[in-house]
Amino acid sequence: MDFELKQLDLAASAAHKCDALVLLVGESFTAGQDEASSLIAAAIKADHLKLKAGKLLQLYLSAPFLAHRVVLVGAGDGSAKQVKTAALAAMNALKSSPAKRVLVSLALLSTAMPAGAAVLQAAVAGVADAGYAYSATKSKPEPVALQTVVFGVHSTAPLKPSFDKACALANGVNLAKEWGNLPPNFATPTLLADAAKALTKGGSPVKCDVLTERQIEALGMGSFLAVAKGSIEPPRFIVLKYNGAAKSEAPTVLVGKGITFDTGGISIKPAAEMDEMKYDMCGAASVLGVFRALADIQPAINVVGLIPSCENMPDGRAVKPGDVVTSMSGQTIEVLNTDAEGRLILCDALTYAERFKPKAVIDIATLTGACVVALGGVRSGLFSTDDSLALALQAAGDAALDPCWRLPLDDEYAEGLKSNFADVANVGGRAGGAITAAKFLQRFTKKFAWAHLDIAGTAWKSGAAKGSTGRPVGLLLDYLLGLAPVVVPVDASRPKRRVPKAGTKAETNAG
Ligand code: BES
Ligand code: MN
Ligand code: ZN
Repeated sequence: MDFELKQLDLAASAAHKCDALVLLVGESFTAGQDEASSLIAAAIKADHLKLKAGKLLQLYLSAPFLAHRVVLVGAGDGSAKQVKTAALAAMNALKSSPAKRVLVSLALLSTAMPAGAAVLQAAVAGVADAGYAYSATKSKPEPVALQTVVFGVHSTAPLKPSFDKACALANGVNLAKEWGNLPPNFATPTLLADAAKALTKGGSPVKCDVLTERQIEALGMGSFLAVAKGSIEPPRFIVLKYNGAAKSEAPTVLVGKGITFDTGGISIKPAAEMDEMKYDMCGAASVLGVFRALADIQPAINVVGLIPSCENMPDGRAVKPGDVVTSMSGQTIEVLNTDAEGRLILCDALTYAERFKPKAVIDIATLTGACVVALGGVRSGLFSTDDSLALALQAAGDAALDPCWRLPLDDEYAEGLKSNFADVANVGGRAGGAITAAKFLQRFTKKFAWAHLDIAGTAWKSGAAKGSTGRPVGLLLDYLLGLAPVVVPVDASRPKRRVPKAGTKAETNAG
């Protein structure tokens, strides 16, 4: 699907040649003199159009509307969040229509800077969300007519950088969704590594190295390898690099949990819903999504992505409860529950991250069922040893409509991890399970500022709407772009793109 940005007021939108016109109408709507706004005013007056976000009124019209099909959609208070809801609802309604070219008009909303950037990005995100359809392993994919979505705004120039960012984000989110959704026999560690390598193609600035089992062994990643042992699929350690700033600039390291299927191992999981453990590589998929977006946007920052990837399977060779393994850090770990495998692969990746002398390390993992109990599917769990990093991630999550919530790391929570036979056990008690998992990881993060995102509740949806959400690519991208030096345009109508300029920390990017 192609996205275009066009300067179109309401009258010009009505006169624009397309197959369907979506008009977002906020509660602050006031009618002008034109045909379209009298129609809307009448529909509101007669209570046919409700302005609550996502409420639809579909019309089939003749002149002066060039698009015969018109979808009026309530956009609530016109905030980014409600605009996303509105755009998503309108595009879902058009999904099975024959419309090839759709105009989504934001002309009735405040698209003046700076609020306009957030509103436009939310509209793009909503449309992109509705536009994603999984088809990779279906023999007869549902036909999709939609080819182009035009976003109509009052003034394109000041919004162009935000629009480009939103399009890059949409591509990154789609990639994360696709790899999350792929069945576990189509997303093995080897295939995930191939997906990472594919990000380096076509003149992309992304670089990728994939370490094999022997190289992982040579590094001393005994904890990661203990998990991998139970599977005939060989493990992979994926290293992605994006360098947009000077070499001297410390990188931010993203570490994504890449368990391509989690049976629990010898501490095997119950059968019900075990299929959803194909999503146990969504942390890894979010790292791929971020690198996809970075390749498009090319901001002046350095980022490293690390993905330890393997299956967690029961087998004659599998790690057993009670086994003691030696991590790359030298710390020994008593594996009391082989289903607490995420932390066992992440701890070695965190130790590996030390070599980059990072600005910060953020790991992203579908780590605990306990986090789903604590926060449900709305906010990801955030843990951090660094208050300013935590604040920045929280702010990025809010801005990207991909929110998280900070949970504590008091040392008392680590009590249960004590072991009589190793330096640490891989599980504590049941209570505070998301936190004890984070406390385990924290032992491997002494050398850098660290944050951990537990996305067990937010990375995918269960039930009828089963599917990957692409979260937290939005949060991570907004956080990373906030690190980039920005050139503030002198003339707002002629904005310059973010350019690499080492050492200058001007204003951070708001959009
Ligand atoms: N991948 C799971 C976490 C998970 C479970 C995410 C269910 C989403 C839904 C993880 O590897 C795991 O199995 N964690 C255990 C830890 C426990 C053994 C301490 C859990 O949460 O039950
Ligand atoms: Mn597990
Ligand atoms: Zn797992």
